[in-house]
Amino acid sequence: MRLSVIGCGYLGAVHAAAMASIGHDVVGIDVDQAKVDRLVRGEAPFFEPGLNEILADGVASGRLTFSSDMAAARGAAVHFVGVGTPQQQGGHGADLTYVDAAFTSLVSHLRPGDIVAGKSTVPVGTAARLAEVVAPTGATLVWNPEFLREGWAVQDTVAPDRLVAGVPAGAEGERAAQILREVYHTAVASDTPFIVTDYATAELVKVAANAFLATKISFINAMAEIAEVTGADVTQLADAIGYDARIGRRFLGAGIGFGGGCLPKDIRAFSARAEELGRGESIAFLREVDAINLRRRDRAIELTVEALGGSAFEKRVAVLGAAFKPHSDDIRDSPALDVAVRLRGLGADVVVTDPEALENARRAHPQLQYTEDLDEALRSADVVVVVTEWPEYRHELDPAHAGELVNARAVVDGRNCLDVRTWRDAGWTYYGMGRPRG
Ligand code: UGA
Repeated sequence: MRLSVIGCGYLGAVHAAAMASIGHDVVGIDVDQAKVDRLVRGEAPFFEPGLNEILADGVASGRLTFSSDMAAARGAAVHFVGVGTPQQQGGHGADLTYVDAAFTSLVSHLRPGDIVAGKSTVPVGTAARLAEVVAPTGATLVWNPEFLREGWAVQDTVAPDRLVAGVPAGAEGERAAQILREVYHTAVASDTPFIVTDYATAELVKVAANAFLATKISFINAMAEIAEVTGADVTQLADAIGYDARIGRRFLGAGIGFGGGCLPKDIRAFSARAEELGRGESIAFLREVDAINLRRRDRAIELTVEALGGSAFEKRVAVLGAAFKPHSDDIRDSPALDVAVRLRGLGADVVVTDPEALENARRAHPQLQYTEDLDEALRSADVVVVVTEWPEYRHELDPAHAGELVNARAVVDGRNCLDVRTWRDAGWTYYGMGRPRG
């Protein structure tokens, strides 16, 4: 099928390349000419495992093209809209400027029978409003939320857990759902659940999923706070409750909490929308989820200062990690970088390293020192703070080797990702999140 994908960020670029990889003819459209230029060369504009390969293959096969001109969407049977919905400046709601601009610019290129598939995360009620924008063209709007995780985006797009299509009632909706099944033919053929709903349900599925994940993380982080005053170990607690299949161990990783371009802004936008709907109290707990999450960064800073003997002033701090999570170069709302910036604010001499995110980090926080060389970061450190659980720190960093480089063998494990015994055996004092000191 011929498809267009409007917006070539973390979502759209992966979607365009993945759709080409399963045999469709795809044009990716973005207003950022520099991004388009890179994509045309088959280069991903950000780090995402596996993306460069499918981009290059798609471009080389001729099935994948990119343009900064919306007219390139003309002739596609399905138009995916995957532009960003960031948090409003000075508010908690979602900023729909890019979504509205994309629809305004797309409508003049739609033909009767086209499908427009919204993928952006939007406040419930947006699709019903946008359906009216699309209706005069004779095209049909579906809402088809995306559940991909950065770092696993290619796999999540090609082989998702489930597909959700919010469609209008009646024959028009049935036809639209059928066309989406054809688009996702590989996933459908392998029996991926395909759930057809109305618009509001599809929009809510997305924010409910992210709200649930954020709540799960904050739940375990709340347990970490209790563990800290009782001497318990939150990682053992998570293992033990996680064996209950109804609970499950995934997303029970206590640490400095969630960040990124989705979970934090999505729970805030959901709260803001619930308030507008007069149901703020129904999800008032999400404010608590947010507050617990932010408190964990304070805790990591507190532990670091404690490890430094009470003051960070002029102490050398090696910060391992800048990305909001491993296998990504995304630093949006990164707890790791926030901790680094705030330690510098306390007068520490902070040096940050990360396998992929340094370029983005440098641009956002030029006041910090950066090095690509892990040994260089560790050299003469008075404390090592691990804030992104990259395999490079988790599995490959030898505590005996690191011990020879640092000034003091003190490590704050902001992600509870290090093997405590190995580090202790190599003479380190270990500070975990919600775990006993050692
Ligand atoms: C999240 C969702 O997981 C995706 O399903 C969704 O599609 C996406 O948002 C989106 O809305 O676009 P992502 O932001 O890539 O995906 O990252 P996650 O893997 O969910 O991690 C989010 C944050 O939670 C990271 O900072 C991570 O370090 C943190 N986290 C995760 C924990 O602190 N503990 C855990 O146990 C798991």
